[in-house]
Amino acid sequence: MISHIYKKEDDLKYKENLKKKILKLKKEKHAVIIVHNYQRDEVQDIADISGDSLALSQAAVEADAKVIVFCGVDFMAESASILNPDKIVLLPVKEAGCPMADMVTVERLREKRNKYPDAAVVCYVNSSAQIKAESDICCTSSNAIQIVQSLKDCKEVIFVPDKNLGRYVQQNVPDKNIILWEGFCPTHIRVSKEEILKAKTDHSEAEVVAHPECNPDVLSVSDHICSTGGMFKYVKASKSKEFIIVTESGMLYRLRKDNPDKKFYVPTDRLVCPTMKLTTLGWVAHSLEAMEHEIRISGDIRDRAYKALERMLNVSGEKPGASLAGY
Ligand code: 13P
Ligand code: SF4
Repeated sequence: MISHIYKKEDDLKYKENLKKKILKLKKEKHAVIIVHNYQRDEVQDIADISGDSLALSQAAVEADAKVIVFCGVDFMAESASILNPDKIVLLPVKEAGCPMADMVTVERLREKRNKYPDAAVVCYVNSSAQIKAESDICCTSSNAIQIVQSLKDCKEVIFVPDKNLGRYVQQNVPDKNIILWEGFCPTHIRVSKEEILKAKTDHSEAEVVAHPECNPDVLSVSDHICSTGGMFKYVKASKSKEFIIVTESGMLYRLRKDNPDKKFYVPTDRLVCPTMKLTTLGWVAHSLEAMEHEIRISGDIRDRAYKALERMLNVSGEKPGASLAGY
């Protein structure tokens, strides 16, 4: 028992020392630390800016820094590089990828385009720079409906890679034919409808707030569906005092911190994205020290991917460089 307590104290001391080291290195390298909402609690604590994938990329443009340390997964760091060609973008752990983003390849997307030559290609930002470069426009989970609606002259849309987000968009934009891709988030599909119903029974006053990457039957029993950034806004504005949060568990940290008078529950402990959790304080310190791992998207891929991102930002009323709040 005593050794257990010592271990915990050592751990805390270790983390405090790492935080001091990161702060020092950050000043020396003129860096900014940008952290996604799903990151470990202690990594969220060292954030200069935290938020959802799109807001972070936009905030990166505004940041007065030479170096961006992106604590998230690779497609987010890539977007930051596409939008910030003059800055050095570092991803602390190079293996931190998004399995859903890997579920679409350029060759297969081209085949699909050939099959549906009149369709526009909309790609979720959870995709590689190469896929963005092949697409007409990007979207995020917060603006996907608006982006598809904006394609006035297009009746058909190839939506990649997330079939669940695509299906959610189809329900909300019935006048278009959405051609779904067989991609999905291995983390968000882990929760079942039965688990949501059980959580609702256990917490009958709670509202269910779910991410659109969840399976359709889960979304069908949810009270509100939105992006991670949208969850902060929704919870703050809601009169409810209790919420069942159906997305990656990292969200709970700031929701609890920002709303101490409200209660938050998870329907299962399995909502953990393994690659999001690879980034630790130790890796952030190493990243700044060794200036690893640089993510740079350049040339033709960067130019074409930039256009798809820029179109999205124009539709959703934000231009690259727009100043955003943390989410
Ligand atoms: P947000 O853009 O809503 O933060 O989502 C990113 C993500 O990876 C969801 O799984
Ligand atoms: Fe990718 Fe899912 Fe992890 Fe988000 S939660 S980064 S979509 S695997």
